[in-house]
Amino acid sequence: MAIKFTWYGHATLGLEIEKQHILVDPYFSGNPLSPVSADVVRADFILITHGHSDHIGDALTIAKRTGALVISNAEICNWLKAKGVKTHAQHLGGGYNYPFGYLKLTMALHGSSLPDGSYGGNPAGFLLTAKTGEKAYLAGDTGLFGDMRLIGEEGINLAVLPIGDNYTMGPADALRAIKLLQPKHAIPIHFGTFDVIQQDAAAWARQVEAHTDTLVHLLKPGESYLLS
Ligand code: NI
Ligand code: MN
Repeated sequence: MAIKFTWYGHATLGLEIEKQHILVDPYFSGNPLSPVSADVVRADFILITHGHSDHIGDALTIAKRTGALVISNAEICNWLKAKGVKTHAQHLGGGYNYPFGYLKLTMALHGSSLPDGSYGGNPAGFLLTAKTGEKAYLAGDTGLFGDMRLIGEEGINLAVLPIGDNYTMGPADALRAIKLLQPKHAIPIHFGTFDVIQQDAAAWARQVEAHTDTLVHLLKPGESYLLS
């Protein structure tokens, strides 16, 4: 029993849980780090943390091609539903049982306007309790907040955190986030894509492993990590 996490660069992830394919923040077109095209990725479900174009990305075209169910907040779901996409709306603090597991929306300190300027509601992270038993926290774009401690109380196997700085937590605050969340494993994302979010992820990994019990897994775009 395991979850396979594939990083496609920036904040784009592919999860495989018992043959189900779940895309998170599917930004392929225009993503300088993406090793694959939006035309070929598989999706049964698409999770969107917030409305910014580097997160909603290719969600519309992938959802139309694959028939995937889009899961996000109510505002983003309504925006996509009006364009002919199947959606399931949730909101902060609420969870729902899907075939792949129980998914809860968590708070994120960020913005969420949609590409056409529409209101995208509150940005979110995801706390996933996979059907296979593992618990993963996908923080989304966020600054550090103290209630990460409450999320950590649930017992996190893997935390996927932004470390890019400028738009989200930088390396120092992401280390503080690790101390609040106390995950067994961590993967850094949302860095290296643009000039203003260049970071030394290997240096961050050394800091985390020197000061906490968390193991950091550095992926190159297209590489996968198996959480089991
Ligand atoms: Ni954003
Ligand atoms: Mn972003």
